[in-house]
Amino acid sequence: MAWNPEIYAQFKDERSAPFFDLLNLVDDVKDNMSVIDLGCGTGELTSKLLDHLRDSKVLGIDSSAEMLKKAKHFETNRLSFIQRNIEEQLNLNDTFDLIISNAAIQWCSNHKELFPRIISKINKGGQLAVQIPSNHEFIVHQLLRKVAETEPYKTAYHSWTREYTVLKIEDYAKILYENKGNDIVVFEKVFPHVMEDAEAIYNWASGTAMIPYIENLSDENLKEKFKEDYKQELKNIFPESPVFYPFKRTFMTAKF
Ligand SMILES: C[S@@+](CC[C@H](N)C(=O)[O-])C[C@H]1O[C@@H](n2cnc3c(N)ncnc32)[C@H](O)[C@@H]1O
Repeated sequence: MAWNPEIYAQFKDERSAPFFDLLNLVDDVKDNMSVIDLGCGTGELTSKLLDHLRDSKVLGIDSSAEMLKKAKHFETNRLSFIQRNIEEQLNLNDTFDLIISNAAIQWCSNHKELFPRIISKINKGGQLAVQIPSNHEFIVHQLLRKVAETEPYKTAYHSWTREYTVLKIEDYAKILYENKGNDIVVFEKVFPHVMEDAEAIYNWASGTAMIPYIENLSDENLKEKFKEDYKQELKNIFPESPVFYPFKRTFMTAKF
C-alpha cells in the first residue's frame, strides 16, 4: 500500500500513545532477547524498545519502502530493519523471545489462522504484545464504506471491498488460550482524541484508513473526487469544532 510517512506523522502524539501503553505490557524478562517488530513503519517507535529492553537485538520489518526510508536513521548495532511482509516473515524459521506489533496486523487477513502462526515463532518463555485499532465500526470508517458503495466508485472498484479483519477481544483471548498462552491480558481502550474539525479527521483517515480506497481506484480524477466526497460526508457529520474522536484499540499480550 502507498504509505506516506509525512501524512502519517501529522498526528504523531495520538499515534504514538498506544505504543507506549503496549510497551508497558512488555516484560523485560531476560537479557539479550531477540525481538521482532511486525509492521514497524518508520522505525521511530521500534527504536524506543532499545531503552526498555536490556541488550536485546531488535529487528523491524515492514512491507513499505516509503515508511522504511526513515528507519535507516534509527539503525544501531542492536536495531536493524528489513523490507518484508509479515506473512513472508512467518514462512521463515526464525523465532523470537518477544514479538511486538503496533497498529499493523489489522492489515493482515484471517487473524484466526495468522495469530497461531505468529505464536509459533515465539521461543519458550517468550512474549507476544500486540495493539490493533478496533474502531472499524466508527462513523469515520462507515463513511468510507458509504462513499465506496455509491457510483461511480462502486463500478470502478469491480466488486473490491475493504476487508476488516479485526476480531472481538474475547476471540483474541481464546486464540491466546488455545495456543497455550499464560498471563493472558486482552483489553480494549478508548483514546479520547480531540480533533480541530472535520478536515482534521479527514487528514487522520487519509494517513491510514482511506489508503486502500484510493489505491484501488485507477483513475486519478476519480481518486480526487473520492477524497472530496469523503471529506464532504465528514463535514456533514461533524460540523462542529472541535470534534471528539473516540478511537478504540485492542491490546493483547501473553507468555508462551
Ligand atoms: C499504521 S502503520 C504503524 C507503523 C508502526 N508500527 C507505528 O506504530 O508507528 C502500519 C504499518 O504496517 C505496515 N504493514 C501493513 N501491512 C503489512 C504487512 N502485511 N506486512 C508488513 N508490514 C505491513 C505498513 O506498511 C505500515 O508501515
